[in-house]
Amino acid sequence: MTSAELPAPYGEGAASSSPSPGAPNGQTRPSTPTPPGRVRIHHLQQAKEQGTRFAMLTAYDQYAAQVFDETGIEVLLVGDSAANNVLGHATTLPITLDEMILFSRAVSRAARRALVVADLPFGSYEVSPQQAVESSVRLLKEGLVHAVKMEGGADYADTVRALVRAGIPVMAHIGFTPQSEHALGGYRVQGRGEASQRVVDDAVALADAGAFCVLMEMVPAETALAVDAAVSVPTIGIGAGPGTTGQVLVWQDMAGLRGGRQAKFVKQYADLRTALAEAASAYLDEVRSGTFPGPEHTF
Ligand code: KIV
Repeated sequence: MTSAELPAPYGEGAASSSPSPGAPNGQTRPSTPTPPGRVRIHHLQQAKEQGTRFAMLTAYDQYAAQVFDETGIEVLLVGDSAANNVLGHATTLPITLDEMILFSRAVSRAARRALVVADLPFGSYEVSPQQAVESSVRLLKEGLVHAVKMEGGADYADTVRALVRAGIPVMAHIGFTPQSEHALGGYRVQGRGEASQRVVDDAVALADAGAFCVLMEMVPAETALAVDAAVSVPTIGIGAGPGTTGQVLVWQDMAGLRGGRQAKFVKQYADLRTALAEAASAYLDEVRSGTFPGPEHTF
């Protein structure tokens, strides 16, 4: 790529105004210019400061990571949702640190530009800040990721401090935290009404401790807006309305690969499940009929 082809970097007046359908009160926001090299934490911070938005998608394997990376998705999340989107578990709880490292390596090797973040899986960080540092070191050293994401509120501020002290960037995950689904009584919106302040307090405590970003899952849009106003770091939402700096979706939800009922916050941008079924069915028919392989596929 020549320098003339390089997209304009963040922060050099390259942002252009475009209608932003999700913006609160019909406001428009400038679109986020793609940085020429690796997306870094400071680019996400610039997005917050300049009022632009960025996108995060989960990725667990090489090809999905490549496609999203080439598309310009700024952040790839190797989510512990690999447990229920790749490994067939009912919840995120069973996935192990070793399994997370395997998925992380695949995504990190494929991603040329995106910031790659991996989840600290259940059981790999709760015991002590030292346990969190040891697990995160493995994710960065063996999984080759650039940052970790950790579920938990203000109680985990000391853990965030320990990670930051060790040079490990931390994305905080608050609101509905799937690893605590049994404690929270299932998939439920968090931070409604008076509980909103608790979510804001969690965000402030974690950002003060050094988290570079606060992700909120399944909180009312007003709560997410209050969090976004209370912290100077970027925020990311999933089921948190349009007022956050970034948005994230599980890629199989976004692309319509997962069947069954979808959460209210999911938008399907494709129907990969049908496309894949049609391809597999055509292949099956051709194998059965002897049409495949044809002469052009034969040595
Ligand atoms: O693991 C995951 O996919 C996540 C997203 C839901 C944010 O944590």
